[in-house]
Amino acid sequence: MHNKKIFIWLILICWVLTRNFSIAQDNRNEMNVMPENGSMFIGVDYYPEHWPEERWKTDLQMMKEAGFNVVRLSEFAWVLFEPSEGNYEFAWLDDFLKLLPQYDIKVILGTPTAVMPAWVARKYPETLATMENGQQIVWGSRKNNCFSSGTYRLLSERITRAMAEHYKDHPSVIGWQTDNEFAGPVCYCNTCRNTFQDWVRERYITLDSLNSAWGTHFWGHKIQTWGEIQIPKCNGEGRWGASGNPGACLDWMRFNSWLNVRFQHDQVQIIRDVCPQSHFITHNLMSFHPEVSYFDLGKDLDFVSWDNYPVWNKPDLSYEPAMAADLMRGIKQKNFLIMEQTAGPSGWGNFFRNPRPGEIRKICYQQLAHGADGQIWFRWRTCTAGREQYWHGLLGHDGRALRRYKEASQVATEYRNLEKYLTGTTVKADVGILYDYTSIWSLTGQPGFVENIYVQALRRYYQAFYRAGINVDLINPEADFSRYKLLVASDQIVLPDQLAGKLNDYVRQGGVLLADCRTGVKNETNLAWERTLPGKLSASLGIEIQEYEAVTPDFNYKVYSNRLFEDTVTAIHYIDWAIPVSAESMAAFDQWHLKNFSPVTRNKYGNGTGWYVGMIAAEETFYDSLIENLLKDAGIETYINLPVGIEASLREGNGKRLLFLINHTEEEQTVILPEIKKELISDKKTGKSIVLGVFGVAVFEL
Ligand code: GAL
Ligand code: ZN
Repeated sequence: MHNKKIFIWLILICWVLTRNFSIAQDNRNEMNVMPENGSMFIGVDYYPEHWPEERWKTDLQMMKEAGFNVVRLSEFAWVLFEPSEGNYEFAWLDDFLKLLPQYDIKVILGTPTAVMPAWVARKYPETLATMENGQQIVWGSRKNNCFSSGTYRLLSERITRAMAEHYKDHPSVIGWQTDNEFAGPVCYCNTCRNTFQDWVRERYITLDSLNSAWGTHFWGHKIQTWGEIQIPKCNGEGRWGASGNPGACLDWMRFNSWLNVRFQHDQVQIIRDVCPQSHFITHNLMSFHPEVSYFDLGKDLDFVSWDNYPVWNKPDLSYEPAMAADLMRGIKQKNFLIMEQTAGPSGWGNFFRNPRPGEIRKICYQQLAHGADGQIWFRWRTCTAGREQYWHGLLGHDGRALRRYKEASQVATEYRNLEKYLTGTTVKADVGILYDYTSIWSLTGQPGFVENIYVQALRRYYQAFYRAGINVDLINPEADFSRYKLLVASDQIVLPDQLAGKLNDYVRQGGVLLADCRTGVKNETNLAWERTLPGKLSASLGIEIQEYEAVTPDFNYKVYSNRLFEDTVTAIHYIDWAIPVSAESMAAFDQWHLKNFSPVTRNKYGNGTGWYVGMIAAEETFYDSLIENLLKDAGIETYINLPVGIEASLREGNGKRLLFLINHTEEEQTVILPEIKKELISDKKTGKSIVLGVFGVAVFEL
């Protein structure tokens, strides 16, 4: 009997492992966040299992009074749905769902696979991930599982199917969140190694092509049978830190991303098979988290959602959530949902500051301004138990409707009034910044110079656009470039020929391109190109870089320019010794040995212009003047003069143009307006300027 069971399991596991995996796009039309004939989703992440049943009605009544119409539920409730293998219990949630119609609240269900029940770990210990030091994770946190484990995949498929079958016709259920915050754990078990070997084999087909792709002639690392492939060491400090082959490391990161995408795909297929077409599928992303390619993960989703927790230390200018939103919108080039957002002081062991009056509201408006079409706070009420006792919700432990709750309910009321204007609008940017996972992964463990952090490189430009009031899309290098007047390809260390060709074409056809330090060093398997930098992009950039160097604080260089900025700026971290060939030099170094090299160049190429910045400036003003020049070249006009700390963003579409202004400071600020308009939240006409109070916001139809 026992043997028979093992045999059946083995067959099932083999079947799972050998199934051909591809991201099949079905014929179904993707859904948008904003329901066509309904109201925008506004609500909270709720855990009925955390509170006595007697409290449920009170909570729902308070949600209704706040103007909420949606809750996300159940993403950690696997053990309640399936207390022992194959025995499903839905009654507890059904009882809660029964209450919802009378409060007009809909439900997004989470597939609960981010936390495995204890019985899974106990019965199938191979489902637990192994850390890099070879130790297996001890069950008891979240994200404990190995994504290569056939058993885990099967169990996840079974619970997903059981939930889908049970809830497919429930009138309150409108959509699904897969798992929770995909990323890791990166698992180093033997199954992962074997799966990696299979994946590599499928990618390279022959050992010869693998060996040349990875450059295994170095250190005598030739691979003679597929079984010799190991999980490379890609992280860590010191002599034996990141000592693995860079090609193997890049593929290991691609592989790990793929494992997550495949895992989600299994669930998506089931939900699409079982549930009505009207159910959407989404996932809650984590902005710049580097482990999983969100472009790949997003292909299976109707729209993306994300989790925004901007309140940590002192109030700041809030570049980060804006930039994150612009990436989240860029994943599918459409509007997104906020699935979790700061509702109070956050932290596990320690918590940080409390959002100040007005801050919860302005955090929401910032996301709305960048394309959020729905707003869900994490969480409803602060939990009295578990690791997140200090991760505060709209309500405190006491469950009373106090200040944070009232602020959220103010947002809900205002959003409802704005809905008619918002429908059909999104951000339509003229500026695109490339966001490239391959370069991010290539730089991991091999940044070239210590401070070379991909997202940090993007931030320098992004923040200057933000200060200029210019909207930006963060886009996939595979996206269509023709809709942009200006493209930034920053820290593009991996530059496949195809992308170089696409960028050159873009400039030739009239685009303005900005590239910078370390562009074009490597090919797609992480080998250095046998080319003088910036490789194939020399065509549109009109420069040649024969040498370069890391710059340490003891010998920072000064850069001056009479064309770009006044005074001098400081070049830090890294410089290229770039020689203008057809490009004109826009700035100069002040050192004798760098006289022939240019830190900033501009090149006319075809109908467009290629800029290159072979330095990193310590001063923001450098980026402000650079961006000003780039915008001029691209024919993009700035339309507003913003005081420091005021953010502007436009949503357009359906014949409407909405201007959002957000005061991120704790002082009153006056903004001069392009023309006198009606402010939509207050429904009042402005003068030629508007005064925004502390954390104040305003929305205008232009
Ligand atoms: C998110 C997660 C939530 C909750 C929150 C606070 O990352 O999705 O489940 O844990 O953080 O820690
Ligand atoms: Zn594993």
